[in-house]
Amino acid sequence: MMRTMRLRRLRRSESLRRLVRETRLDAAQFLWPLFVRSGTRVRAPIGSMPGVFQTSVDELLRDAERAVTSGIGGILLFGIPDTKDAIGSSAWDPAGPVPEAVRAVKREFPGLLVVTDVCMCEYTDHGHCGLLTPDGDVDNDATLALLAREALVHADAGADIIAPSDMMDHRVAHLRAALDGAGHHRVPIMSYAAKYASAFYGPFREAAESTPAFGDRRSYQMDPTNGREALREVRLDIEEGADILMVKPAGAYLDVIAAVKRETALPLAAYQVSGEYSMIKAAAERGWVDGDRAMMESLTAIARAGADIIITYFAIEAAAHLARR
Ligand code: PBG
Repeated sequence: MMRTMRLRRLRRSESLRRLVRETRLDAAQFLWPLFVRSGTRVRAPIGSMPGVFQTSVDELLRDAERAVTSGIGGILLFGIPDTKDAIGSSAWDPAGPVPEAVRAVKREFPGLLVVTDVCMCEYTDHGHCGLLTPDGDVDNDATLALLAREALVHADAGADIIAPSDMMDHRVAHLRAALDGAGHHRVPIMSYAAKYASAFYGPFREAAESTPAFGDRRSYQMDPTNGREALREVRLDIEEGADILMVKPAGAYLDVIAAVKRETALPLAAYQVSGEYSMIKAAAERGWVDGDRAMMESLTAIARAGADIIITYFAIEAAAHLARR
């Protein structure tokens, strides 16, 4: 047995630990999700997500400014429309909150990267991510056309990246063709390739007002038990032309992040979802964990697993933490 090797040698001081650190976070890899709605001077707190708000476009611009000054990678926009219907028609209203927000942010802060979520669940009155068949199933192929209309409105408004989160089969190919057909061949698609039917989305559904009116999302989002299936999802999305892949949620799926990283050279994003954020916030509020350390440790773990890009509600706080160091 080798008794001369002492692994504690490199842990002895902060300067040594700093030198041999394997994983470093950079504010530029964070994307910050924001929820936008109509009106002015609206900044409505989300009860289950301390520090997260639904805002009107004017207020969103203040957050956009914070995003710029903190040096994060960009923002990811979710829309809360004024009206919902069975087909989610407000999703492709060019005067809806997301297109309005994209135009305003790109006008005020042209250098800030704006990603838009493309999905139907915020826009349908039943809260499912697509069009329903008469028997209540989500109609995959009929939904593709609606997603394309939504994506085109976002791209026309100036979105830098389109991020479909619906989990319909073949939507990447469909969106790519639709974007290219409309002259948006330069707009990348960040695909929620492996998105699981997760309990950790709970707080988001309050934030986005997108809780399904009946049933759940298990017929389109992945079963949390499946790791190999994530690779099939990923391969399909690569074949269909995805530019960036995503695994979601992040913290409970680090093995999936690592497996996808081994599978492909595409940039890989991971979404630290609402429940992951709220659990840390809630425990920190009670003094049960050190919130700042838990935040940085959770983000570091996601990067260590292989994520290049991290979507996180902590984006600004974590960037501030990195700047202080
Ligand atoms: C659906 C969507 C969801 C999230 C992002 N996009 C919720 C869902 O699938 O039910 C969850 C994000 C989070 O929990 O932070 N468009």
